[in-house]
Amino acid sequence: MNIQKNEIADEFHPTFTGSRQERAWIRESLGGFYEDRWFTDVLYRVKGGKEATVYCCRGHPVTGVDLIAAKVFRPRIFRAMKNDSLYKTNRTVLRPDGKSVFDRRRLLALRKKTAYGKRLDAASWCRHEYDALTELHEAGADVPKPLAYAPNAILMEFVGDDVQAAPILQSIRLERQEAETVFERLVENVEILLSCYVVHGDLSAYNVLYEDGEAWIIDLPQAIDALQHPRGYELFARDVDRLCRYFVKQGVEVEAVGLAQELWQRWIE
Ligand SMILES: Nc1ncnc2c1ncn2[C@@H]1O[C@H](COP(=O)(O)OP(=O)(O)OP(=O)(O)O)[C@@H](O)[C@H]1O
Ligand SMILES: [Mg+2]
Repeated sequence: MNIQKNEIADEFHPTFTGSRQERAWIRESLGGFYEDRWFTDVLYRVKGGKEATVYCCRGHPVTGVDLIAAKVFRPRIFRAMKNDSLYKTNRTVLRPDGKSVFDRRRLLALRKKTAYGKRLDAASWCRHEYDALTELHEAGADVPKPLAYAPNAILMEFVGDDVQAAPILQSIRLERQEAETVFERLVENVEILLSCYVVHGDLSAYNVLYEDGEAWIIDLPQAIDALQHPRGYELFARDVDRLCRYFVKQGVEVEAVGLAQELWQRWIE
C-alpha cells in the first residue's frame, strides 16, 4: 500500500498533547520524523529546558529502538540562553546538512538577525549537537547514540523508561564508593572528549544522567574545539571544576584545578 506523506501526517495524534501551541509545535518539528517512521508516538514531555524541550517517544519497530529522546530546539528568539556568542567564537555556522554557511546572503541574514538568520542559527546549533554526539559516540564516550536530525530537532537514544527519564546526577546522592566509580568513568569520558579535541562547555552534574550505575553525558550543542577556541582551557577548567564540586559533596577526594591541568597537559599541550 502506498501511503502518501500528508495522509500519515493526518494520522499523527501523539499521546502527549500539551497546549494547542505545543501541539502545533510538536507537529511542525517532529511530524517529519513520524512520517519517516522513526517513532510511533510522543509519550510525554521530559523537560522544557533553556534552549530546548525534550520529549520521550516510542521508537518505530523498524528502528529497533524502544524509546527515543526528541530534543526540539527553540528558535533563537525564544531561547533564554542569550549569551551564546562565547561558544560560537571561531566556529562555523552549519546548515542542517552539515555543510558550512559561507555565502554572503546567509552570513548577512545571520549578522542582521533576520527571521531567516535566526532559523539558520537554531539549525546550526542543533547540527553542532548532532555532530558532537556522533563523533563522541563513535569514540566510545557515554553519550546517547544520535539517531536522526532535522533543522530544529534531533533524535537520540533515550535514557530512562516509558514513565520517566533517568534523573540528572545533581538530583541524587551517591554512596562514596559508588561515587568514586562513577567519577572515575566520567574522568575517562572527559579524556575521550579531549582525545577528540572536544570541550563540553557546560559540563556539570546537571548535564549528566544516571541510570543503573551508569552515567550519561548530555547537552552538547555548545561543545567547543579545544585547539581552536581562544578560551578553551578556561572553559575546560570550569567544566572540571563544576563536575568535581558534585563529587566532593559525595565524599570523593579530588582537587579540580590540578586535575584539569593534568588532563589538559596529557591531551592538548
Ligand atoms: N537522551 C535523553 N534521555 C533522557 N532524557 C534526556 C535525554 N536528553 C535530555 N534529557 C532530559 O531533558 C533535559 C534537558 O535536556 P538538555 O540538558 O539536553 O537541554 P537544555 O535545553 O540544555 O536543558 P537545561 O536548560 O535543562 O540544561 C535533561 O535535563 C534531561 O532531563
Ligand atoms: Mg542541560
